[in-house]
Amino acid sequence: MAWWNPFRSKTSESDRPDFSAPPIHLGKQLVYDVHSHLVPGVDDGAETLEDSLALIERLVKLGYSGAVLTPHIHSDIYPNSERTLRPAFDQLVSAAMERWPAFHLKLAAEYFLDDHFADCIAADELLWFPANDEQGREVKCVLFEFGFHEPPMNHDQVIFDLQMAGYTGVLAHAERYPYWHRQQEQFRSLSDRGVWITVNAASLAGAYGPQMYRVAHQLLEDGTAKMICSDAHGIRHMDSLAALAKSPIVQNWITNHPVLSRKIRPEH
Ligand SMILES: [Fe+2]
Repeated sequence: MAWWNPFRSKTSESDRPDFSAPPIHLGKQLVYDVHSHLVPGVDDGAETLEDSLALIERLVKLGYSGAVLTPHIHSDIYPNSERTLRPAFDQLVSAAMERWPAFHLKLAAEYFLDDHFADCIAADELLWFPANDEQGREVKCVLFEFGFHEPPMNHDQVIFDLQMAGYTGVLAHAERYPYWHRQQEQFRSLSDRGVWITVNAASLAGAYGPQMYRVAHQLLEDGTAKMICSDAHGIRHMDSLAALAKSPIVQNWITNHPVLSRKIRPEH
């Protein structure tokens, strides 16, 4: 990939993404993209309706059936709520339906795990998406993220409260928390407690360098990761996603592990 610089840091061959496999129809395998910033003008993702449609077009061309759109909700930076997000989402759905009537769009959110998220749980005011778990049970999924620089505070309690409120937590981009790179048992512990672990396509394509690549790769290889997400903010993330069609690691994961993005239910 053009952004991969093998001289940027000392890496081994296994830390470099490999795109040598015959391509698969990635969207047909993953079915739903469950983490993206395609609602126009509400966060640091798509800015205009046309931007959003161009990104959705990429998913359609990759063969996806639909996408869960997950704008940031972060009380300090993106103080969004369903009230602020729904009008732009509805406008996007109308425009997308005209072009791709069979493509499903669902509004959810990417919650930053902070006091505001805890308040939303307590008030039962959460944007969620419907899925089936590995046993086929219907579940209500809520995507959340940690900060990139410091380990989360009180996350065990917040995740417990989320589950007690009847939701399945979905952790965004597990590989992007460097403070846990040497403590990957943290991800397995969350997974054992019912949290769905996800990794970003861009990390697997090498866009964030060897360390993120290595951790994302390991989480796929040992089956801890249950979904690969675009986390698309712009076209560059769709390029990463498309590149994974030739990734032997991704193909191996699809063949040997449950791919929970196939289990999204379009209506509820
Ligand atoms: Fe995101």
